[in-house]
Amino acid sequence: MHKTLSVAKDTWWVGVNDYETDLFESLWPLPQGVAYNAYVVLGDKTAAVDTVKGPWFDDYIDKVATALDGRALDYLVVNHMEPDHAGVIGRLKHTYPGLEIIGNAKTLPLLKEYHGIEKDVIQVKDGESLDIGGHVLTFHTIPMVHWPESMVTFDATTRTLFSNDAFGGYGAHEGGLFDDEKPRERWEGEMLRYYATIVARYSGMVQTALKKLSALDIANIYPAHGTLFRQDIGQAIELYDRWSKQETERGVVVAYGSMYGNTRRMAEAVCRGISEGGVKDVRLYDAARSDTSLILRDIWRYKGLVLLGCTYNTLLFPALDALCVKLINRMPKKRVLGIAGSYSWSKGALDALRAFAETVKLEKIGPEVEVFAAPTAADLERCLELGKNMAAAVA
Ligand SMILES: Cc1cc2nc3c(=O)[nH]c(=O)nc-3n(C[C@H](O)[C@H](O)[C@H](O)COP(=O)(O)O)c2cc1C
Ligand SMILES: [Fe+2]
Ligand SMILES: [Fe+2]
Repeated sequence: MHKTLSVAKDTWWVGVNDYETDLFESLWPLPQGVAYNAYVVLGDKTAAVDTVKGPWFDDYIDKVATALDGRALDYLVVNHMEPDHAGVIGRLKHTYPGLEIIGNAKTLPLLKEYHGIEKDVIQVKDGESLDIGGHVLTFHTIPMVHWPESMVTFDATTRTLFSNDAFGGYGAHEGGLFDDEKPRERWEGEMLRYYATIVARYSGMVQTALKKLSALDIANIYPAHGTLFRQDIGQAIELYDRWSKQETERGVVVAYGSMYGNTRRMAEAVCRGISEGGVKDVRLYDAARSDTSLILRDIWRYKGLVLLGCTYNTLLFPALDALCVKLINRMPKKRVLGIAGSYSWSKGALDALRAFAETVKLEKIGPEVEVFAAPTAADLERCLELGKNMAAAVA
């Protein structure tokens, strides 16, 4: 995307596509890239809303200059200090020395530490507005969605909510920017993967934010990543409401850790049981090889989760353990859990999965299956039974 685009009256998209970052936050793969959406609003004064990640400054500043068409930039609204949106603030200030930077009480210490900027800053309170002449921008804090200083900016003239990471998704823009320009199946999965990896832990705060923002008369939701919603903002709000309430669909994720295939055979028997129980959405993942963000995404979508691990040096197989750590961090709720383990001498995997189940407090579905070395026909029968019980539990 090399063009500055008008996205509402006096409002320009000045974001960039990033296909070069392999791992978002050095964790999550970006097979379809990611967009950093940034905006410029032109009134009697001019304002930018958010910026982009450091390496993309040249692209960004060209677009800002095009949007400004010879004018100076008067204000920068900082909705979020994470460097994917705040990375070029120092250089932006250098380019437009008269720039005044707007943030809340939690933004300003971060601005000082990251960029050494203390001068020309305006501290705003929750609900406070800035009149730029023709557009009034109002700032609403949304604490911990997903940083302490996170806020959104509402332009009452165009009824546009610049929503920061909220409603954001992975995936670069492929020509289209808006929900009416992209097929839903192209953005929904990447929006959920973003939610599951970045936002899910803060689902309670998302609920608080949704209630707070419901008072606004919003026509457009323009997030800092991914699709811009203008045709049907209801679908974005509905998805966010569902994901943050942890409402799930009928389906089961089965993730296993296996070195020599015995635990995998157990997992496959569980999957067969789920299928025989009439559930079509079964997602089988090898925790060591499958992309963890896809596993987390599907866990966030479906009601059922089965974890099966072999024992490795007295503990749960490391790749499955790593998935458990990420899950505990995200606090999944309203789901049902089945567990199974294998061992050849000391045991360990199933005990670790029991401890995991205690920690996440999900409803357990039996039977627990523990297998010595290779599963017998009777062991596989119990795995099949676990699968059928899971199918019944997610119905
Ligand atoms: C490197 C390594 C370490 C293991 N550590 C243990 C262990 O500490 N305790 C135990 O009971 N079994 C241990 N095992 C045995 C496996 O847990 C057991 O063979 C299991 O059935 C393997 O399942 P898989 O075929 O799915 O890989 C270990 C196996 C390997 C290869
Ligand atoms: Fe962020
Ligand atoms: Fe972000």
